[in-house]
Amino acid sequence: MSSCKLSFSKPLLSSLFLMSCLMALASAGNFYQDFDITWGDHRAQILNGGQLLTLTLDKSSGSGFRSKNEYLFGRIDMQIKLVPGNSAGTVTAYYLSSQGPTHDEIDFEFLGNLSGDPYTLHTNVFSQGKGNREQQFHLWFDPTKAFHTYSIVWNKQRIIFLVDNIPIRVFNNLESSAGVPFPKSQPMRIYSSLWNADDWATRGGLVKTDWTQAPFTASYRNFKANACVWSAGKSGCDTKNSAGFEDATWQDQGLDAAGRNRLRWVQQKFMVYNYCADLKRFPQGLPLECKSSRFL
Ligand SMILES: *[C@@H]1O[C@H](CO)[C@@H](O)[C@H](O)[C@H]1NC(C)=O
Repeated sequence: MSSCKLSFSKPLLSSLFLMSCLMALASAGNFYQDFDITWGDHRAQILNGGQLLTLTLDKSSGSGFRSKNEYLFGRIDMQIKLVPGNSAGTVTAYYLSSQGPTHDEIDFEFLGNLSGDPYTLHTNVFSQGKGNREQQFHLWFDPTKAFHTYSIVWNKQRIIFLVDNIPIRVFNNLESSAGVPFPKSQPMRIYSSLWNADDWATRGGLVKTDWTQAPFTASYRNFKANACVWSAGKSGCDTKNSAGFEDATWQDQGLDAAGRNRLRWVQQKFMVYNYCADLKRFPQGLPLECKSSRFL
């Protein structure tokens, strides 16, 4: 909030400024302030005075939470430590989503695995209710040993998925050039849940959840949203310029040469599924956005 500490000579102006800062910013978070536990009762817990959140899954239920705020554009960071050991059959979903049949959605889903076998990071983008844009990755580290940062940069030009600040996927706004709908007008909440999906998640459902290992636990910390909070039908960013942000680089963030190199590295070495390369699935031709750029 340091950039909100501007001084104004008139107290009225300064309090108006502060109000718009508070509306537009939800920075370094406290889970009590920023999130509601939405299901799973005691299986979801906020700990350490709001600095840590844990979700658990046992045989009778999973658990989940969602942000109190809705956002329309921003950069959202969360550190997550995934279910360790034999996590086969479990899915930890972490995503942004709006509501309704033509909703937009930006997904990270972590598919568990047997001890020693790699997690799969599944990603997708929905716009106007339509997804089918899956890309999946293995990671270059063990996501259960420590917290790692998973980020979504969402601006008017593109969506960038980042892992420890390394871009793994970019979804460009090709609305005007190719007519591909882009999430740009529906505010989204942040959601996360831990649940059992052993009918499909691990090796396509072949490996079942080992309930003797339950409860399964995923942990969250250091939530940060440099984002435009939606309130009363308006974006907090309409009322102020980028000076109100702690860090406004996300607003026109793209990939520079170094970013493109890292994206290429991830896509060459760690991508295990790409809908844009799945010709069998799209016999009528690949989705339009697949043709328009190498880096999707
Ligand atoms: C689990 O490990 C197997 C074997 O390495 C791998 O093929 C698979 O992609 C991994 N992930 C999931 C979610 O099944």
